[in-house]
Amino acid sequence: MNRPVIAPSILSADFSDIASAIKLIEEAGAEWIHADVMDGQFVPPISFGSKMIADIRKRTRLPIDVHLMTVQPENHIDDFILAGADYITFHAEACVHAHRIIQRIREAGRHPGISIVPSTSVDSIRESLPFVDLVLVMTVNPGYGGQAMLPFCLDKVSKLKEIRSMLGLRYLVSIDGGVSLETAPLIASHAPDILVIGSAFFSAADKSDLAESMRNHCGTNPVC
Ligand code: DX5
Ligand code: ZN
Repeated sequence: MNRPVIAPSILSADFSDIASAIKLIEEAGAEWIHADVMDGQFVPPISFGSKMIADIRKRTRLPIDVHLMTVQPENHIDDFILAGADYITFHAEACVHAHRIIQRIREAGRHPGISIVPSTSVDSIRESLPFVDLVLVMTVNPGYGGQAMLPFCLDKVSKLKEIRSMLGLRYLVSIDGGVSLETAPLIASHAPDILVIGSAFFSAADKSDLAESMRNHCGTNPVC
């Protein structure tokens, strides 16, 4: 049984004490750190920029999974490469030349990812799939933590996994938004590779237990 990677989103952490948040993520045994970069244009809020990533990089060896919710992601890629991001995921809706951005991230030796909002189809990113290491399926409209999951988005996870095995590709499929123990039964039948968890992680009294329960409830069904 393949168990999903747990990627807590620091968007739900206390920004005034990010070092403690990183420690909580490590102590819970989570495998990745998800960092939501918002520019106030692609989505209304402004969160943080590449300096946050550089500072986190000094404190942890866990992979940092940067989720760029910005317009013109091409203008920001180099900063996040320099800051030490491992995965850099941008939105298909935010750029024209996705392939060029993917190439830039790849050339720098980092993992390129592409993300789609709920109203964007898998078909619209089909040409990019052979070139990315990660596809981030938004299961809420991006911009805020703590929203209710939009379950129809989960069908895209299964579709992406089908395409992956049909074409012999290797990208990971991640979901982001409303992931919690309550939505785990819905998630389980689609079995994504990565679970981004924001509010449910940081509000859990026992974070290690939450992470382990999510892995157990959302692992790959052998028939998938
Ligand atoms: C939303 C962000 C998410 C957010 C998820 O736009 O991309 O990563 O932190 O938060 P929850 O898990 O609370 O829905
Ligand atoms: Zn995110």
